[in-house]
Amino acid sequence: MKQNSADFNPGNDDVFRRIATRYDFLCDIFSFGIHRLWKRAMARTIAQNNTGIVLDIASGTGDIALRLTSKLPEGSTIIASDICQPMLDIAASKANTMTGPRANLDFQILDAHNLSKIPSASVDVYAISFAMKICERDLLLKEAVRVLRPGGRFYCLEASQIPLGWLHKTYLKYMEWCIPFIARIATGGDRSAHDYLLRGIHDMPDQLTFCAELETYGFKDVSYNNFSLGIVALHCAVKPKLGT
Ligand SMILES: C[S@@+](CC[C@H](N)C(=O)[O-])C[C@H]1O[C@@H](n2cnc3c(N)ncnc32)[C@H](O)[C@@H]1O
Repeated sequence: MKQNSADFNPGNDDVFRRIATRYDFLCDIFSFGIHRLWKRAMARTIAQNNTGIVLDIASGTGDIALRLTSKLPEGSTIIASDICQPMLDIAASKANTMTGPRANLDFQILDAHNLSKIPSASVDVYAISFAMKICERDLLLKEAVRVLRPGGRFYCLEASQIPLGWLHKTYLKYMEWCIPFIARIATGGDRSAHDYLLRGIHDMPDQLTFCAELETYGFKDVSYNNFSLGIVALHCAVKPKLGT
C-alpha cells in the first residue's frame, strides 16, 4: 500500500501556492459544491464531542477551522496550520470577515510530517481534511499520535471507496474523463492541480483498510461514516488513555 497515495511532495511542486486564490472555486467545481456538506458534517461531528485545543492540519483556506470557530465554545482554541503560507493567508482573511462569538484561531505554518513545534500530548483533537492522500501517512500518523493527549480524538475526511465495486470503478472512470476536462479550463492548464487529486483518489486505502492501518498506530474505537455513497469517508479514532 502506497504511503503517499498521490505521490505528492510539496518540496517539488508548489501547486497550492499557484492555485491558492482559486482553491475554493476549484473545490466547488470538482465536487459540484458538495464538499461544503462533507466539511460541515465533519465540523459538526468534531464540535459535538470536543472542546479544548483542536489542531487542524493542512487547513488550506480554512474550511474546517473556520466552520469550527463558530461551533466550539469560547475558550477553545483551533490551530489552523498548513505548509503553504498563501493558503493560510486566505484562511486568515476569511476569518477577519467573521463576526459573533467564536473560539480562538491561531494560524501556524506546520509540516504534517514533523510537528516539532507542537508539544507531545498537548492537543485534544487532530483534524485533517483532504490532505491525507497527499502526505506520507506513516510520518503523519506517528506525529498525530504523539501530539494528541491520551483520550484525544483523531478525525480524517478523505476520498474513499464506494463499497459496490462496479460503481466505484464507474466513478473512477468518470473522474478520469471529467476532471481533466473541467480542470483544464478551471486551472488554465495547470496539470498538477488535478493530477495529484486523481492519483490520490485512486490509491487511498478503502475504509476498512484505513481503519486497520489506524489501529496499527495504537488508535482505538476506530470508526468511519460514508458520505455520498463512500466517495468520501470521515474516519474517527481515539488515542487510548494511559492504562487502557
Ligand atoms: C487539498 S488541500 C486541503 C485543504 C483543506 N483542508 C480542505 O479540506 O479544503 C491540501 C492542503 O494540504 C497542504 N499540505 C500539503 N502537504 C502538507 C504537509 N506536508 N504539511 C502540511 N500541509 C500540507 C497544502 O498546502 C494544501 O493547503
